Amino acid sequence: MRIDIISAVPQLLESFLSYSIVQRAKDKGVVEIFVHDIHDYGKGKYKQIDDYQYGGGAGMVMMVEPLDKLISKLKSERDYDDIIFMTPDAPVLKQALVNELSLKNNLMILAGHYKGVDQRLRDLHITREISIGDYVLSGGELPAAVLADAVIRLIPGAMSDETSALTDSFQNDLLAPPVYTRPPEYKGMKVPDVLLSGNHQKIAEWREQQAEKITREIRPDLLDNPSL
Ligand code: ADE
Repeated sequence: MRIDIISAVPQLLESFLSYSIVQRAKDKGVVEIFVHDIHDYGKGKYKQIDDYQYGGGAGMVMMVEPLDKLISKLKSERDYDDIIFMTPDAPVLKQALVNELSLKNNLMILAGHYKGVDQRLRDLHITREISIGDYVLSGGELPAAVLADAVIRLIPGAMSDETSALTDSFQNDLLAPPVYTRPPEYKGMKVPDVLLSGNHQKIAEWREQQAEKITREIRPDLLDNPSL
């Protein structure tokens, strides 16, 4: 998979892209990530990329032209499966969409900044808009990193243990059951006997029951509205 991330503050993405699962995936060649600085396409001597909002109102708006030039150039070089704009005024990201996106070849992610992006840019190029939750962050870089991380870890070869992604919370509309490792007892607290029993069927049943119990307590909405 190839992911192009478009940002006005590429430095914010540097550490995310050079550590952990993302770096491992890049080293293994399962993903290539390119970050593009919008300022490279900015207008005039000062490489301007934002301007005042027509009609008045607080906050600067990202101009259509620099983004259009950058996105058009990338689109002329390859076909993109999706050109995604990270924005709070969009449907909230769910695991089902992450699964779908992990099967794509070329994704472009626009990390917006300031008050927003000129609507004409959205109309011209954006094929999908995604929010990472009902709160507003100061920019789209963290949301872009969240989306990229969630997608990359599902690409075959990105994780050392591939079955582990399938047992994540949300993969079956349930939260994940509790997990334990050594020692079997700590400060008087014991690992549930069933996990030490070696009986795989019993263990699977216990995990299923725990997942349901925890989901009912913490996120009953997942049981009432599966895959929402
Ligand atoms: N940009 C600012 N806040 C955001 C959010 N909640 N989701 C996606 N992009 C954003």
